[in-house]
Amino acid sequence: MAKKSVWSDNRFWQRYAAWVTGFASMLLIWLTFDTISQITIGTNADLQNGVTKRVPGPTVINYKITYEMDKKRGHEIPVIGEKEMFFGRDDYSEEEAAELLHLGKLGSQTKNCMNCHTLLGNGAYYAPDLTKAWLDPAWGPEGSMQAMTGKSSKEEAMAEFLQNPSQYPTHARMMPDLGITAEEAKGLVAFLKHMSSIDTNGFPRNFGKIQGAIHGK
Ligand code: HEC
Repeated sequence: MAKKSVWSDNRFWQRYAAWVTGFASMLLIWLTFDTISQITIGTNADLQNGVTKRVPGPTVINYKITYEMDKKRGHEIPVIGEKEMFFGRDDYSEEEAAELLHLGKLGSQTKNCMNCHTLLGNGAYYAPDLTKAWLDPAWGPEGSMQAMTGKSSKEEAMAEFLQNPSQYPTHARMMPDLGITAEEAKGLVAFLKHMSSIDTNGFPRNFGKIQGAIHGK
């Protein structure tokens, strides 16, 4: 009898399927644990001890956030710098900072920012991507928004804009007034600042080049 080819052998394919399924399951379990460790939010202690986390702890709002080109990775990565005032303080406790971020997150959901903007890859592109909006130089000392809103800091200018966007139109599309209160605006700005400190593997692509936000000017 002629030797049967391995390719037409049922047992070969059964074993093959079992091995592939087994290997894929192991890989998925490993990837799940790897991802969990990558996306787990850091702590205040991490920030104080210079431990780099992909998602820094809430108290990152006490620090200056800049971006630097990482040649090896081929895109900009966040750099947490010196302490910096945020609404007049640089000593928010972990609880206070987390509460502000929570308020901002709830605000972003109730006012549905994603209907027009994109946050961390989710949302629309009717309005600018908000993932790194905190680093948009328009809000910095050399940008136009502080002068336009009559405020002397990035966070105050942004909070004022969020409360009354229709009073500060640019040449782009206008953001409508959404009835955001002063307290909500503060939370939203904290939420945006924290989001800008997340290492998103260079997403949105080339934002540094587009916005000139490298070195956090
Ligand atoms: C109906 C659409 C719409 C919604 C909803 C909306 N925005 Fe906007 N937003 C815009 C538009 C349009 C602009 C651009 C305005 C301009 O350039 O004058 C803008 C601009 C901004 C900017 C400035 C962006 C930058 O890079 O400098 C920020 C910050 C912002 N919005 C935050 C928010 C937040 C936070 C929410 C949710 C609470 C929100 N927006 C909801 C339409 C919207």
